[in-house]
Amino acid sequence: MRSLRANEYRDTWAGEARKDGVGQELRVAGWVHRRRDHGGLIFIDLRDRTGLLQLVFHPTTAPEAHEQAHRLRSEDVISVHGTLVARDDATVNPDLPTGEVEVQVAEFELLSDAETPPFQIDEDGPVDETLRLKHRYLDLRREGMRGNFELRHEVITAIRDHLNAEGFLEMETPILTRSTPEGARDFLVPSRMNPGNFYALPQSPQLFKQLFMIAGFERYYQIARCFRDEDLRAERQPEFTQLDMEMSFVTEEDVIELCDRLTQSFLAAGGVEITLPLERVPYDEVMLKYGSDRPDRRIGMEIADLGPAFEGTEFKVFAGALGGGGVVRGFKAPPGEYPRKRFDELTEKAQSLGAKGLVWAVLEEGGAWRSPIAKFLTPEEMADAAGLLGAAEGDVILAVADDAKVAARVLGDLRLALAPEDVEGHDVFWVEDFPMFEWSEDEQRFDAMHHPFSAPRGDLDADPGTWRSRNYDIVMDGLEIGGGSIRINTPEVQQRVFDALGLPPAEAQERFGFLLDALKYGAPPHGGIAFGLDRIVALLAGRDSIRDVIAFPKTSTGADPLTGAPAPVDEKQLRDLGLRSAARPGPDVR
Ligand code: AMO
Ligand code: AMP
Repeated sequence: MRSLRANEYRDTWAGEARKDGVGQELRVAGWVHRRRDHGGLIFIDLRDRTGLLQLVFHPTTAPEAHEQAHRLRSEDVISVHGTLVARDDATVNPDLPTGEVEVQVAEFELLSDAETPPFQIDEDGPVDETLRLKHRYLDLRREGMRGNFELRHEVITAIRDHLNAEGFLEMETPILTRSTPEGARDFLVPSRMNPGNFYALPQSPQLFKQLFMIAGFERYYQIARCFRDEDLRAERQPEFTQLDMEMSFVTEEDVIELCDRLTQSFLAAGGVEITLPLERVPYDEVMLKYGSDRPDRRIGMEIADLGPAFEGTEFKVFAGALGGGGVVRGFKAPPGEYPRKRFDELTEKAQSLGAKGLVWAVLEEGGAWRSPIAKFLTPEEMADAAGLLGAAEGDVILAVADDAKVAARVLGDLRLALAPEDVEGHDVFWVEDFPMFEWSEDEQRFDAMHHPFSAPRGDLDADPGTWRSRNYDIVMDGLEIGGGSIRINTPEVQQRVFDALGLPPAEAQERFGFLLDALKYGAPPHGGIAFGLDRIVALLAGRDSIRDVIAFPKTSTGADPLTGAPAPVDEKQLRDLGLRSAARPGPDVR
């Protein structure tokens, strides 16, 4: 692994002992991974960070050590002195890098006694996650977990090497700051010295990195911790890590070209090869074809617009949707068994997602449809729809009639529900040309689709619903792994966006006055991106949850079973902060 200064504990890494060292005396130290008693001999696999090495305790050559070794248990910490010897051909372990050798132990010292761990460390088998998190230091000893963090380190190293070579400066930004709107709730920190006032933890370094550009740093990056108080999922943690970066005097072509090569470097560090340039697909196209802005294209099932097949249809459901400005869209389900019950389940799922219903059809010989709605359709309509989907005899078609947004969401989710468990290979590409805003029915106002600092494109005198943004996302295997934009660099345009968001000038000034001011003092054109580092490492590690690549993550309720955070605080602490709690603390999260 790296040089090791010999001391009283060890002079050799356990995982690095090889045949060329046979005959030499050595010291190794680590944990008792596994112990086996074989007649007179005791075998122990010793583990340090570099791997495993077999120790042999012999009753005649080292009777004292042998006697003491009887008492060793899994996870005890020992330091061993002995001689490296070659194993017999019959006992060579080809699965272990150290499998050709073993240590004949002369003597050893027990450095720390271990209680029986609550789960097995020497296996990567499934263990209840709360138990793993409660004893995370044990969970992290397991080989698979250790591998994840070695991989994480490799990915971060590749990022730093790449960006340093491109002239980027690694810079830090504050954790105690003011709210930056990335669309989630803020975590707040009360100020003792300014009672009644609060810091917000950053949802991202967005505004600070823009200030770096205004300050003239030109190229910035940071491995940045971000905090968002939102509902947690497998790919979402309340604190997570971004590779955050920003560049000056650039267009989206420059950012994307640089990020293509950067992405190639950090994915290669995880053993994934991609070819450049990465494909760039317009937002409208991914929404139509996959019903999602971060589709997994590997699973196929491309959605098609079936409108042309049903233009003059008598079938009320389709005619009603098309006549009312809606759409009829569908896709070809993957081959498989589709008993009636399966269609009922899929229909229920579609309805739970907000569809009014689901059309299903099995194509029979001669192009006829076996479908509850077949009797409402003409043979031409059925043939045209099948043609639009490239469907042939035996294929299954699923379709929805609704407004475009609902149809996209429902079909997009049905695709995922029908996706096979394992998909080969990886798919990385850009989505671009997003709308600037999304209309929020709940709030009756526009929300920025990315954030309010992305530069809008289009006629700013027209309805903001028609504006596009100079925003780009990068998607890998159905996850958004990064997103960024070219930013606004004048106070006028920034104010126009705040206006469109319904943020009154006084409030905009109050919350973002520092940015509006900075934009008045010579802000270069600039743009950047942030990658979700945890998601990238999880994908490369083949893990379903980013919790497996975060050393000390939170559970889905935001709790840390290890430390017991979040926890109540004393009355006195609250008083010092000028706070009084209206909530009674819940049970201990452990
Ligand atoms: P955005 O909000 O898209 O952009 O975040 C960038 C990337 O961060 C990852 N991510 C998360 N990962 C884990 N847990 C979360 N809760 C979480 N939220 C986001 C995603 C996402 O693509 N300031 C802008 C970037 C910019 O414009 O430069 C920003 O934060 O992979
Ligand atoms: P109905 O006329 O409501 O009985 O619907 C006839 C068939 O069309 C049923 O199989 C419904 O599930 C299906 N259906 C109804 N509304 C929709 C819709 N908006 N999109 C797709 N299928 C629908």
